[in-house]
Amino acid sequence: MREIYLDNAATTFPKPEEVYRAIDRWMRTQGGSPGRGLYRRAVDAEEMVSDTRERLAALLGAGDPTRIVLTQNSTEALNMALKGYLRPGDHVVSTVLEHNAVVRPLWALEKRGVRVTTVESSAEGELSADDVVRALRPETRLVVCVHGNNVLGSITPIGEITRVAHEHGVAVLCDGSQTAGTLPLNVRELGIDLFAFTGHKGLLGPTGTGGLVVGPRIELEPLKEGGTGSLSESPEPPDWLPDRLEPGTPNTFGIAGLRAGVIWLAERGIEWVRAHEAALSQRLLERLLEIRGVTVYSPRTADRRLGVVSLNFDHLSPTDACGILTNKFGIDVRCGLHCSPLTHRRIGTEGTGTLRMSVGVFTTEADVDAAADAVQKISNLLYRRSVA
Ligand SMILES: Cc1ncc(COP(=O)(O)O)c(C=O)c1O
Repeated sequence: MREIYLDNAATTFPKPEEVYRAIDRWMRTQGGSPGRGLYRRAVDAEEMVSDTRERLAALLGAGDPTRIVLTQNSTEALNMALKGYLRPGDHVVSTVLEHNAVVRPLWALEKRGVRVTTVESSAEGELSADDVVRALRPETRLVVCVHGNNVLGSITPIGEITRVAHEHGVAVLCDGSQTAGTLPLNVRELGIDLFAFTGHKGLLGPTGTGGLVVGPRIELEPLKEGGTGSLSESPEPPDWLPDRLEPGTPNTFGIAGLRAGVIWLAERGIEWVRAHEAALSQRLLERLLEIRGVTVYSPRTADRRLGVVSLNFDHLSPTDACGILTNKFGIDVRCGLHCSPLTHRRIGTEGTGTLRMSVGVFTTEADVDAAADAVQKISNLLYRRSVA
């Protein structure tokens, strides 16, 4: 049975060959610690990490590469932004579309005196800048908002939200976990003050990589302190970026893989990725909409959605459906709450969640057709059972 991987919103698979090769080459032949020696291996490592930052800055339209702080993933980047920026007494506007990587740090911050207002979305997971404005208060310091929701695939009008937030002197933290590498975007043009991304999804790198773009007007308290290879005589971390927020030896072989993923994407263009994924997910969605006994939750048109489609069978739990899809049809999809419990509450699926299918750069039309055929077969079986 051929395996069809449709869980690219969790992590992309496979990665481009160049990514595997870069990691292997880095571990075998380079392997120095960046910024921590004058010998060739250490200097090469420093240059490789700086080059990755420059390529990320170009791909994301992030401006000054030194303001890209490399992290383990977007969870770390989001914690760094929220805990480094907010203080007791501050108010933050969040949304029902946020992942637990935002919801849980905010919950922890609420216990330390930060207040949170959570804005609703439409039934298909779309946010309105007007709702964000209505939630602002004089003490609001931050709006935190997902750029692409990981359950429904809905896309946030982030440029409109930053515009209205800035009119009120409020900064915006954007969770770009699902959009970095899948949606053409320019962090500076969109006015995003803090942009968190993960390396192992759309950017095609390995797990253990990610980052935070820190806008020119933003200052963050470090999430952790430690050695940076700079200003070592001082107990206080350096006051410049990225050193201030990047203590400890970085994940150099992961960064080498991330760099290869970014080069692969830059060569093809994010516009190509977007067109490929939009066409495939639209093809899938239209087939699913025709199947009796299946409910589709995602926005109907590709321009309002990433390559993610959430659905449920009327008479089969998402967990059972996932089991059948993987065991009988070789189709790997994700079921449950996808770490986004508030989104599920909004769409009325908080009990069991949904079944999520997500395409990637290596997904083909044959893959999505096979997934739709499998859903059709399961639905036919359920229908026959229900009338028997
Ligand atoms: C919208 C969103 N935010 C945050 C995350 C967390 O990403 P990571 O696990 O790479 O930190 C994810 C991952 O699924 C996500 O989809």
